[in-house]
Amino acid sequence: MPKDNINGIKHIAFIMDGNGRWAKKRLMPREFGHKYGAEKFEEISRYCKKIGIGTVTVYAFSTENWKRPKNEVVTIVSLFSEYIKRVERDDEGSRIIFLGDKSAFGDETKKKMEMIEASTAGNPSTLCVAMNYGGHAEIVDAVNKLIKSGKTEITEGDITDTIWSGVVPPPDMIVRTGGELRLSNFLLWQSSYAELFFTDTLWPDFTVEELDKMIDEFGKRKRRFGGV
Ligand code: FPP
Repeated sequence: MPKDNINGIKHIAFIMDGNGRWAKKRLMPREFGHKYGAEKFEEISRYCKKIGIGTVTVYAFSTENWKRPKNEVVTIVSLFSEYIKRVERDDEGSRIIFLGDKSAFGDETKKKMEMIEASTAGNPSTLCVAMNYGGHAEIVDAVNKLIKSGKTEITEGDITDTIWSGVVPPPDMIVRTGGELRLSNFLLWQSSYAELFFTDTLWPDFTVEELDKMIDEFGKRKRRFGGV
């Protein structure tokens, strides 16, 4: 039964960690884990949309992930390309926003990403895919844009409006699977008041039932945003 009470959550962001270990446990190459991870991403993002979460963000590839073995990078980038082809073919009703420096993927893919962003812009729910993303890079990019626009002094609001995720609200919840207790350069500006959820479950094993429990737990937390 899909959840009927989402405790006012507007945005959930996921750090999809544990694909490599999931594959290793099955004596399979790490790439196998990413393939299942990509399927899980589709399942979880669809579920969030179904229960009324307006925005979902997933951390698919970081600016640091280029350091991984070539085979693995090629697999993740090709899973991403397949995903792009699919959303190009059939718009599933979500506004797609790519967070990250698109230029690393070549002109053709960059153009496709921009076309998808433009053609889905009117859709009611939003899916942000962080690809070649880094929280530091995002803030530096925003500051450089503001300098180029002629500003000599900036406000917090300027940065909030200029970062790649500018049009979406900050995440209410950040979920990290795979047992590590850190943000790993993800949504550094936006996470200031996010409720953090960590689980040992490896991303391909993550379930909508576990997510439902986190949403219930979110409802019990007192969010004071610095107040009393
Ligand atoms: C972290 O697990 C996962 C990644 C770095 C890649 C995530 C990518 C996908 C789920 C697929 C591609 C995305 C799209 C949008 C189609 P890890 O490899 O660090 O796992 P480990 O900690 O067990 O080694």
